[in-house]
Amino acid sequence: MNRSLRRPIIAGNWKMNKNPEETKQFIEAIKPKVEGANCEVVICAPYINIDAALRQAEGSNIKIGAENCHWEENGAFTGEISAKTLNDINVEYVILGHSERRLYFGETDVSVGQRVHTALHNNLKIILCVGEQLQGREHGITEEIVRIQLKEGLLNVPREFMKQIIIAYEPVWAIGTGKTATSNQAQEVCKMIRETIKELYDEDISNHIAILYGGSMNAKNADELLSMPDVDGGLIGGAALDPKSFAALVNIASNKF
Ligand code: PGA
Repeated sequence: MNRSLRRPIIAGNWKMNKNPEETKQFIEAIKPKVEGANCEVVICAPYINIDAALRQAEGSNIKIGAENCHWEENGAFTGEISAKTLNDINVEYVILGHSERRLYFGETDVSVGQRVHTALHNNLKIILCVGEQLQGREHGITEEIVRIQLKEGLLNVPREFMKQIIIAYEPVWAIGTGKTATSNQAQEVCKMIRETIKELYDEDISNHIAILYGGSMNAKNADELLSMPDVDGGLIGGAALDPKSFAALVNIASNKF
């Protein structure tokens, strides 16, 4: 399979960290280190930091994303942010279905699928997260869980929108725990995801879609994970909070592809 069909992506997921001033400083610090990178460089930041991030990243190769959005374009949803608003202010990416949203905020496969539709119709690129909890892996049902999350997340998504979709495989037991999936475990599931996309769409779409690994990825383990043929980049939490370690990951990915 030709890996060069896909653009590798290193995306940071800041979660509930940093303020606008820290955001500016971070982006200023990474700009010279990641310019000319041979991969997509994305920072997904808390909503309150997005304006600062967009301003600071202007004219650079750094793309800005949000960490979630609602399934309606507007309305009586106190405290929520819509895909339309994100698009209006030129946000390019949004993470949907992150396991922390599913675990702590009651998001389901169905509501993730609804968010996907609205985000697609508002021109956002989506990093759709899937991944099993430890229990699922121990019970040997990782494949079933991930396939269902994928099928529900992409339910009724027409093929012409698939250009806007990126999948992130994030085993929940590896997130923020320091326990990385082995490169073989990551490859096995990422390959299965690509095969599922081929079943749902076709070979061309499955060859072009970027599939990321996420879960304690850092500058030490990235080289091995990114050597796997179906791992096209990373969704990075902890290691994306420090400009040096994030830039190091971008450089590792840049040299791999
Ligand atoms: P981590 O987080 O790199 O801190 O494990 C990854 C994520 O949750 O996206």
